[in-house]
Amino acid sequence: MSSTLSISAFFDPQTWTVSYVVADTASKRAAVIDPVLDYDFKSGRTGTASADRVLAYLKAQELQVDWILETHAHADHLSGAQYLKAQVGGKVAIGENIRAVQSTFKTVFNLERSFQPNGSDFDHLFQDGETFAIGGLRAQALLVPGHTPADMAYLIGDAVFVGDTLFMPDVGTARADFPGGDAHTLYRSIRRLLALPETTRMFVCHDYPPAGRDAAWQTTVGAQRSHNIHVHDGISEAAFVVMRHARDATLEFPTLIIPSIQVNVRAGQLPPAEDDGVRYLKVPLNVLGAAPARHAP
Ligand SMILES: [Fe+2]
Repeated sequence: MSSTLSISAFFDPQTWTVSYVVADTASKRAAVIDPVLDYDFKSGRTGTASADRVLAYLKAQELQVDWILETHAHADHLSGAQYLKAQVGGKVAIGENIRAVQSTFKTVFNLERSFQPNGSDFDHLFQDGETFAIGGLRAQALLVPGHTPADMAYLIGDAVFVGDTLFMPDVGTARADFPGGDAHTLYRSIRRLLALPETTRMFVCHDYPPAGRDAAWQTTVGAQRSHNIHVHDGISEAAFVVMRHARDATLEFPTLIIPSIQVNVRAGQLPPAEDDGVRYLKVPLNVLGAAPARHAP
């Protein structure tokens, strides 16, 4: 464990998303994980209140941002990565499998021909196991697909940021029914994370607290192995997959999936302006939803 590791969480109650600032207090270098760009579905207007809270913290702590890390192409919120980058710099990074996600959604949304599903909208694409530095902190990117094909977890000191793989122990795990998702793969990714030392601090990307408890986002590998309602020790892959399929069949699409995906496969950039100078999002009719694009048997 590094005594210079500082972690601050920023919970967005609109999308139940937790963004993080991870800093090396010695060098004042930092990474921002999963920043949010606010979006008002009714008016189609974006906003920066969530990202501005992160920005204010960075400025107050006098932190220099080296990385803006996405755990995956989120379907429930728009990424604030480009807004933050424009304000404070940093390399916007995601897992290299984002190319497959970009390719899928280039087709779904019939994106402009010039959109390249090669990851080039991002500044860096992580390979599984790749190490990187945040000042004096050593970090490692871990490929943990299943929720989507491109999910990464980031292991930084004694903390792991798990994106949408596991949620808090009393909430369970993420859905595996998005295009390219797979419950078997998700189970194996989760077991990989749960093989980390039991004292590893685990930070989740969302919380959907059951009635009676406040939102929370920090747990440990040991607590997940003991108490996670979907994947505690002793639950087999087969049992998990049966549970996950049954549960996914009951879930509605996230409210913001259509705007989110179109922005997030572009690393948080809005679509290019049309000839009137306005940027538009598309809604593909009768494509998503009715028949889940499930690949698992
Ligand atoms: Fe997600």
